Amino acid sequence: MTLIGELDGVRAIVTGAGRGLGRGIALGLRQRGAAVAALDIDEDAARSVADELAVDGAKSMAAGVDVTDERSVQAAVEKVVEGLAGIDLLVNNAGVLTIARVVDLSLAEWRRVMDVNATGVFLMTREVARVMMRGEGARSIVSISSIAGKRGDPELAHYSASKFAVIGFTQALARELATHGITVNAVCPGLVETEMIISLGQSWGESVEEMLQAQAIRRPQTAEEIAAAISFLHRSRSVTGQAINVDGGTVFN
Ligand SMILES: NC(=O)c1ccc[n+]([C@@H]2O[C@H](COP(=O)([O-])OP(=O)(O)OC[C@H]3O[C@@H](n4cnc5c(N)ncnc54)[C@H](O)[C@@H]3O)[C@@H](O)[C@H]2O)c1
Repeated sequence: MTLIGELDGVRAIVTGAGRGLGRGIALGLRQRGAAVAALDIDEDAARSVADELAVDGAKSMAAGVDVTDERSVQAAVEKVVEGLAGIDLLVNNAGVLTIARVVDLSLAEWRRVMDVNATGVFLMTREVARVMMRGEGARSIVSISSIAGKRGDPELAHYSASKFAVIGFTQALARELATHGITVNAVCPGLVETEMIISLGQSWGESVEEMLQAQAIRRPQTAEEIAAAISFLHRSRSVTGQAINVDGGTVFN
């Protein structure tokens, strides 16, 4: 791994880091010099990503967490504070996606998606913000929303509602935490080839190439590109309350 160093000394948490985008973000932050705690509901997966991160003796750790469970979140954040001696960057990445038309959507499914994607962001952020408020230097919270947080699409109303919620939460919290030196932003990916996207394509009967027709740049984004955006947001001390699209030119607001 060639180290870049722009995040040297930064202690980061990535949720949903056991696979997909979260794993890629964890690797990207590590490559930039950050010490990374990989958190996931699948603790074994988080542990194996932490092993990947521990190259050249780099500080890394894993913890199991269910972001929808207050106690589990408190325990995981405590473990990270012990392991990394503080937290400078939180990446709220854990999320779930299902598809259903609103008329067919059960209350249980609506609640499950809102619970992981929106309530999970609230619980993780609240716990970590309490720690960050006692810290100093550059500190930031970056949540992974989606282009679905900017635009509604059929069969994704519950997912879209949860991702719009992340952006509203981000804007409000940016104002609350600014005087503490903490920035709060969101990144909105378009399409990164992960298990989530592969199963979405299967449900819609569409290939990745077909799904890319909505993008100006007709290729998927990479987790590395999302990590680069997160690194920029962490280092910039003037950007807060933003939801930045890294989507190959799909939505323009
Ligand atoms: N892949 C894309 O194109 C894309 C586009 C826009 C937004 N996103 C968002 O990026 C994030 C990651 O997506 P992905 O494609 O890597 O999905 P994925 O399904 O491949 O990975 C999601 C990870 O989150 C973990 N997770 C799920 N529920 C959890 C919980 N309750 N507590 C802790 N961890 C939990 C899973 O175990 C898994 O490791 C999600 O928030 C998703 O909505 C993805």
